Amino acid sequence: YDLSTLHTFRLPAKAENILFLTQQEQLTEIPADAYVIGGGSNTIFLNDFKKPLVCVRITGIEIVEADDHWNVKVGAGENWHELVLCLNDKGINGLENLALIPGTVGAAPVQNIGAYGREVAEFITNVTAWDRRQHKVVNFKPIDCKFGYRDSIFKQNPMRWVILKVEFSMPKAWQPELSYGELKALDSPVLPTDILNKVIAIRSAKLPDPAITPNAGSFFKNPIIARAHFAELLQHFPTIPHFDTPNGDIKIAAGWLIDNLNLKGFAIGGAAVHTKQALVLVNSGNAIGKDVLELARHIQALVFKNYGIKLEAEVRLLDEKGLVSL
Ligand code: EPU
Repeated sequence: YDLSTLHTFRLPAKAENILFLTQQEQLTEIPADAYVIGGGSNTIFLNDFKKPLVCVRITGIEIVEADDHWNVKVGAGENWHELVLCLNDKGINGLENLALIPGTVGAAPVQNIGAYGREVAEFITNVTAWDRRQHKVVNFKPIDCKFGYRDSIFKQNPMRWVILKVEFSMPKAWQPELSYGELKALDSPVLPTDILNKVIAIRSAKLPDPAITPNAGSFFKNPIIARAHFAELLQHFPTIPHFDTPNGDIKIAAGWLIDNLNLKGFAIGGAAVHTKQALVLVNSGNAIGKDVLELARHIQALVFKNYGIKLEAEVRLLDEKGLVSL
C-alpha cells in the first residue's frame, strides 16, 4: 500500500499490511500490534511501515432529540468537519469553534482536539471502543477518558483500544464561546453560523490546506511551564502570548517562540516551517522522513537554547519500528 495517500503530510512510505475496518465483524481480526489511524492528519509516516495498520472507516450519524439536548452518536470513521457542518445545518450547535479541524470523529477524543477556546471533551458523553486486551467492546464515560490538553487515556495507551463510536450531548441552550482574540470582534448578537464562518476564515488564512500543502497541523504542543520560569522569560520577552491553566502553570504559544527566532519559511530538504503559522511544519515538496526529523530537532534545540523550554511533538511520528520520540 502507498501510505502517502493515507497521511496528510504525504511522505513517501509504504505499508505491508492494512486492515480497513468498516464493520464490527472485523474486530477480532485486528492484530494486537497494529497501529490505528483515522484520517492520517495527526500521524506522520517517516519511513516504510513494517507493522500492521488499521484504518478506521466505520460510518453512521444518529441524532436523537431529548428535552434539553440532542444525543449525537457518530461512527469513528466519519469526517470531523463534515460532522460539524451537518450539525450546524440542522441547528444543533456547539461544535462551531472546532470547524475545519482535519481528521476523523474517532481521532477527536484521542488527542482531545481543541481550538478557539473549546475542546471536544466538553461535549463527549461516551466513547465505544474495542479492547484488544480483553477482546470485547467497552464503553468509556467522560471521567474514564482522562481528558487533558491534547491528551486522553487513548493517547496514553495507543495499543490498547480501537475507538468505534463517539457520543456527544449538544445542549439546546447554546452559549457562544468567544474568548479567543479574533472571535471577540464578532458583532452581537452572534449566531452559531457567524462563529463557524469566522473560524473557517481564520483557519483558512493561516493554516495550510493539507490538500494543497501537505502538513499535519500543529507539529508541537504548546508547552506548559512553571509560573516562576514564566516570570523569568517575561523579563526578556514581554510580549509572549500565554494562558493561565487551572493548576497555576502557564501555557505558552509555541508558534510565537518559533516565530520569534525568525524561523518562518526555514527549511531542511523538503520540510519547512509554514510561512504563516510557525507551529505548523509542511512538506514543501519531496520531503523525506529524515528532513522532518532534522527540522523538528533543530527547532527543538533552538527553542531550548533560547527559552529553556523543551518542545514536545503534538503529532505522532512513526518509523518502520513504531513510535519515534523527538
Ligand atoms: N503566533 C505567532 N507566530 C506564529 C504563530 C503564532 O506570533 O507563527 C502567536 C499568535 O499571534 C497568537 C499565539 O501565538 O498570539 C497563538 O497562535 P494561534 O492562535 O495561531 O494558536 P496556536 O496556539 O499556535 C493552538 C492549537 C491549534 C488551534 C489554535 C486555535 C495547539 C498545539 N495548537 O495553536 O490546533 O487551532 O490554538 O485555538 O494547541 C492543532 O492542534 O493541530 C491545531 C492546529
